[in-house]
Amino acid sequence: MPRESEGKHYLSGKEVRAIAKENAKVMRELEKYKNRKAPESEFVTEMKDDANILEIEDLHSYFFTDQGVVKAVNGVSFNVPQGSTVGVVGESGCGKSVTSMSVMRLLQGPQGQIYSGSIRFKSFDFKLGENGKPIPIYEYDENGELLYEEVLDRKGNPKIDKKTGEHIIQPRQKRDEYGTKLYEMEEKVFDIAKMPIHEMYRLRGRQIAMIFQEPMTSLNPVFTIGNQLDEVTLLHVPGATKEEAKKRSIEMLNLVGIAAPERVYASYPHELSGGMRQRVMIAMALEGNPRLIIADEPTTALDVTIQAQILDLLRNLKDRINGSILLITHDLGIIAEMADYVVVMYAGRIIEQGTASEIFHHPMHPYTIGLQKSKPTMATDSETLFNIPGNVPNPIDMPDYCYFRERCSGCTEKCFGDYPKMIQVSPTHWVACHLYDKENADDKETR
Ligand SMILES: Nc1ncnc2c1ncn2[C@@H]1O[C@H](COP(=O)(O)OP(=O)(O)OP(=O)(O)O)[C@@H](O)[C@H]1O
Ligand code: SF4
Ligand SMILES: [Mg+2]
Repeated sequence: MPRESEGKHYLSGKEVRAIAKENAKVMRELEKYKNRKAPESEFVTEMKDDANILEIEDLHSYFFTDQGVVKAVNGVSFNVPQGSTVGVVGESGCGKSVTSMSVMRLLQGPQGQIYSGSIRFKSFDFKLGENGKPIPIYEYDENGELLYEEVLDRKGNPKIDKKTGEHIIQPRQKRDEYGTKLYEMEEKVFDIAKMPIHEMYRLRGRQIAMIFQEPMTSLNPVFTIGNQLDEVTLLHVPGATKEEAKKRSIEMLNLVGIAAPERVYASYPHELSGGMRQRVMIAMALEGNPRLIIADEPTTALDVTIQAQILDLLRNLKDRINGSILLITHDLGIIAEMADYVVVMYAGRIIEQGTASEIFHHPMHPYTIGLQKSKPTMATDSETLFNIPGNVPNPIDMPDYCYFRERCSGCTEKCFGDYPKMIQVSPTHWVACHLYDKENADDKETR
C-alpha cells in the first residue's frame, strides 16, 4: 500500500487505522486456525530426509503491529540432522529467537504468528492402545512368563485386597535406568506449524526442550527446584508417582554435575548462582527425555569459566541422550566450538548455511566474511563482534533487493536487481548473494 507519509518518519492516523483493521482480520483468521480442533491426519506428515529430526521449510513468522507487519522470519529453511548440533548465528534482531519460538509455538499471539511454512519434527511418542492410553512394557522371565509385582499405596506400603486379605499384584512394568516406567513408543512426524496449539503439549518440554538465556525468567521463584523438576515428570510420564518423580529429579541434577543434588532439590531459585540455575534449567530440559534441545543464548548471562562448563555439559548430554541441539547465539566462538552445521541469518532470512568447516574456512557471503573478520580476539571484547558498518533495513519495509546492500563493499550492478536466490555451492553449502549467481559462477574461483 503506498503511504501518504512515505519519506516521513511517521504514519498518519488514517494509515495506522487502516493497518490495524487489515491486521485484525489476518490475526483473527490465524488465531482461529491455531485454536481449531483437527484430526491428527491434518498435521501428521513425513520427513523429506529421514536423517533429520527437524526440517524447517519456508517459514514465515510475523508480528502484526500498528506500524505494519514485521516479517521477523521471512522464508527460512534449514534442517537439523539427528544427533547433530546446528548453530544459528546473526546479529541482534535478525530473527534467531523468533525462529526458535516458532518451533516451540511460543510466539505471543495475536500479534506474533506463524504466517506460513512447515516445521517438520520427528517425534518419538507414546503409542496409544485401543483405550487411548499408553501401552506399558512389561517384564518377562527367561521362560517368557510375565513377572508380577506388588501394588503399593501412596506411602509405599503394599495394597491389600479387603476380601481376601492378600497383597494385590500387577504385571511388572519395565523401567529405565532412573526408575521411570517405560511404555511402547512410536515414531511420528508432526508439522508443528499446522498443529492446533493445544496439541503442542505432546512435544513442548517433553520431546523438544528449550533452554533460555536467563533461567530466572523460566524458573518460578515461589516453588522449590525439586517441586518444579518433579512437575515435569508428573506431567509427562503416565502413572508416575511423587517418589518416582523425586528420584528422577535427583538423578537429573546429578547428571548435570550438581554436587549436592538433595540440597539443590530443596532450594528456591534465588538461593542458587547463575551457573547453578542454568544447570537446573538443563536438568529440567532433560527430565522429559527430549530428542531436540533448543538453547537460545544459553551462556550469554554467565561468566567465561562457567560458560565453558555449561557448553561442555551440553555437548556431553547431547551424546548421552542421542539428541540434537539447535544452538542460537551471536557468538561465533561458541558456534565454532559446538556446531556441526551453521546457519547465518540476516534480517529474517538465511544468507548462508553450511557445515561449520565450510562457514569458518570458506565463508562466501560478504556478511559472513565480515563476521569472521570482526570475530573477537583476546584484545577485543564480544560487544564489538558485529562491527560491520551500517544498519539493517527497517523490518516493516524490507526492500526487494539484497538486504545487505547498504553495508556491502563487494556489491555489483546485479545487486540493484532482485533479492538474490539461494545458490548451492557444495552438497552442504548454500549462499544467497549475486556474486555466486550461476552465470557469474564460472568467473569465480572454485573452492
Ligand atoms: N513482540 C514483538 N513485536 C514486534 N516485533 C517483534 C516482537 N518480538 C520480536 N520482534 C522483532 O522480530 C525481529 C527478530 O527478533 P528476534 O528476537 O528473533 O531477534 P534475535 O535474532 O533473537 O536477536 P537477539 O540476538 O537480540 O536475541 C526483530 O526485528 C524484533 O524487533
Ligand atoms: S548480493 Fe550484492 S549487495 Fe548483497 S551481499 Fe552479495 S554482493 Fe553484497
Ligand atoms: Mg534472541
